[in-house]
Amino acid sequence: PSKQRLLVVANRLPVAAVRTGEDSWQLEISAGGLVSALLGVNEFETRWIGWAGVNVPDEVGQRSLTEALAEKRCIPVFLDEEVVHQYYNGYCNNILWPLFHYLGLPQEDRLATTRSFQSQFSAYKKANQLFADVVNEHYEEGDVVWCHDYHLMFLPKYLKKYNMQMKVGWFLHTPFPSSEIHRTLPSRSKLLRSVLAADLVGFHTYDYARHFVSACTRILGLEGTPEGVEDQGKLTRVAAFPIGIDSSRFIRALELPEVKDHIRELKERFAGRKVMLGVDRLDMIKGIPQKILAFEKFLEENPVWQDKVVLLQIAVPTRTDVPEYQKLTCQVHEIVGRINGRFGTLTAVPIHHLDRSLDFHALCALYAVTDVALVTSLRDGMNLVSYEFVACQAEKKGVLILSEFAGAAQSLGAGAILVNPWNITEVAASIGYALTMPADEREKRHQHNFMHITTHTSQEWAGTFVSELNDTIVEAQLRT
Ligand code: UDP
Ligand code: G6P
Repeated sequence: PSKQRLLVVANRLPVAAVRTGEDSWQLEISAGGLVSALLGVNEFETRWIGWAGVNVPDEVGQRSLTEALAEKRCIPVFLDEEVVHQYYNGYCNNILWPLFHYLGLPQEDRLATTRSFQSQFSAYKKANQLFADVVNEHYEEGDVVWCHDYHLMFLPKYLKKYNMQMKVGWFLHTPFPSSEIHRTLPSRSKLLRSVLAADLVGFHTYDYARHFVSACTRILGLEGTPEGVEDQGKLTRVAAFPIGIDSSRFIRALELPEVKDHIRELKERFAGRKVMLGVDRLDMIKGIPQKILAFEKFLEENPVWQDKVVLLQIAVPTRTDVPEYQKLTCQVHEIVGRINGRFGTLTAVPIHHLDRSLDFHALCALYAVTDVALVTSLRDGMNLVSYEFVACQAEKKGVLILSEFAGAAQSLGAGAILVNPWNITEVAASIGYALTMPADEREKRHQHNFMHITTHTSQEWAGTFVSELNDTIVEAQLRT
């Protein structure tokens, strides 16, 4: 039988385009959990619809980029600079993102943000309409349309306006905050109502789903049921679908000669020292300053470890046009510089901080040689880095220190050391505990987590979501 057609609609395409000539393009793989997880999905006839991360004002450019992307089964949505500024940098990443992660609005320009709210919200709706137009143009009867993330909360409503028969699912990759947070948004009701136009709404954890349902009951006065949210007899199904990774891809990669060479080099380079690792987009939610300060405290309290441990922090640049992200970059550089100045010697520094992304093979090698991985997110929808680390640790059985505020704490909690990233004393103590943990305890903890990540894969996640969406539609037809 032929595979079911799936239209994945997300702001971020799996590749970002860089222009190399009038009609020539270079495609680079995008970073982030959404793209990683969806790239692992292979049981559908998938098309991606999204933004290629580049402004293309001219027709020659748009045509040639469309062709280049078609080879990757990607369909571009073109957004002009002003829309990107107001919708992506503004409403999405300066308002929704921090709010959904309980960070509040950016401190210094709260009033400016409040003032520009209306125009950013208009741009958000405009951008969502542009996505809807492209989806509608490529839609074929029977397709499943799967909308992703906080960028596209108006999409379900706009799609249903075009075609009530369209099967529409929406999945949020971030936390959905308590209704007490959501209710501070001036556009709180409109956002909820538009999402509710979908047939199925999914979240990473049960808590996020519950927050969403109570926002709908408290703010919209609708009825919440165990199945979802009901509005005048119409049910929107709401449920938790915890995401996973393509674990076999990581396990297989460790067998490649190239990766083995990398591993050997890294082992030589850091011989005699324990390796601690952080891999994050350079984002406020990741708690990078908190992590580094906890590492400093550990070194301060344990002088014997000062030349025996190194922290490698990969900080992938992200959303660099948003002022809060620029400030964070400066802040992190300052702290790293101070600590390296304080504990470094002529031949070694305690922190290697990289402002760049790594290719897949280099990343796998790093995961494999790590003794202790540190994930200190202040909030995180799931956090796939923690899963990827576990996938690469079959041999070493290293320790995962994991924030209790990451969605992953609910799945890897039994094997990881859970910490409150705000409590630097606790994180510092956990580092000491992890570095000296006996082999049998490491083994037991690793087995727990390894079992989880190999049985809860991204393929299974997508398969479950899509079949639930199909079932929901059949059930709705039976009810009427
Ligand atoms: N990642 C990447 N390039 C890098 C480092 C990491 O593409 O140089 C990937 C990483 O493998 C993971 C994703 O980025 O799949 C991060 O996902 P996560 O869920 O941890 O956080 P997010 O970035 O989505 O907030
Ligand atoms: C998170 C979001 C994704 C986003 C990714 C990278 O994972 O949930 O929607 O794609 O971060 O961020 P960016 O702004 O570069 O797409």
